[in-house]
Amino acid sequence: MRDVASRSAPTDGSRELTPSEHLPALLRVEDVSISFGGIKAVDQVSFTLDRGCCGIIGPNGAGKTTLLDALAGVLVPRAGRILLDGQDLTRRSSAWRAQHGIRRTFQRHQAFGWLTVEENLLVACEWRGRGWRILADLLAARSSRRRREAHLERIEHVLELCGLLSVRDQRAATLPIGQVRLMEFARAIVDEPRLLLLDEPTSGLGPADTERLGSVVSELTSKGECAAILVEHDLDFVVGLCDRLMVLTSGQVLTSGDPAEVCRDPRVVSAYIGKA
Ligand SMILES: Nc1ncnc2c1ncn2[C@@H]1O[C@H](COP(=O)(O)OP(=O)(O)OP(=O)(O)O)[C@@H](O)[C@H]1O
Ligand SMILES: [Mg+2]
Repeated sequence: MRDVASRSAPTDGSRELTPSEHLPALLRVEDVSISFGGIKAVDQVSFTLDRGCCGIIGPNGAGKTTLLDALAGVLVPRAGRILLDGQDLTRRSSAWRAQHGIRRTFQRHQAFGWLTVEENLLVACEWRGRGWRILADLLAARSSRRRREAHLERIEHVLELCGLLSVRDQRAATLPIGQVRLMEFARAIVDEPRLLLLDEPTSGLGPADTERLGSVVSELTSKGECAAILVEHDLDFVVGLCDRLMVLTSGQVLTSGDPAEVCRDPRVVSAYIGKA
């Protein structure tokens, strides 16, 4: 993650820009504000993200989920812009964003309970560019065999990564909450996203599954396959996983930077952590 200011620093000609500096950031958030009636849930938030994992922490009601909703296209900001690869997507639908590689998980899981774990992932794979007709297609089992086989291979790999192979044929509604959350995470990564938005993904997970999820996110983001924004209350998990940490309070960015340094910031200790 970079501060917007660092992107716009003037160049004096003494140094040539590297190729990545010529390219627009993967994600650029400019002065985004979202209100609910009189509540400023997100207030002039700006940041950029190119690669790696950016953690977002903050007290309850700080605006973390609202910000993810704006990035995912669930909410349209009252002011500001959101750009992906330099393209303004502020008013694009969530379907368009998903087709362009933005995938998310939800604070309250949203699984297709009547489908099996494997079918939940198949929906995500086959959905791209085809709208919700895929649900009808899935039930009618009329997709092309070759495409289906490629998808099933990818699904098998992701189920293994997420420790879900043993429950692949179980209906999602019958699973304990930890496995449903892992399945939702698997569904978000199965179609190889470019930007992954994770809203409290470890809630409901035991220590082993939390570690597993962390290592999958770390593998995806360190290989540069995708960048991630991770909203979390589990500080140890965030600090261990993220390259950058942003603290939101009352909808505003209190500070951002190196996770360990941010956690030592007295303003962060008093606003969020509560102890040194
Ligand atoms: N749909 C809504 N209608 C009205 N107010 C809302 C709505 N969604 C969120 N808010 C308000 O916006 C503010 C930010 O909420 P948000 O859910 O983004 O916080 P959060 O940081 O995700 O909190 P938590 O850690 O509890 O998940 C809160 O004051 C919340 O009450
Ligand atoms: Mg939230």
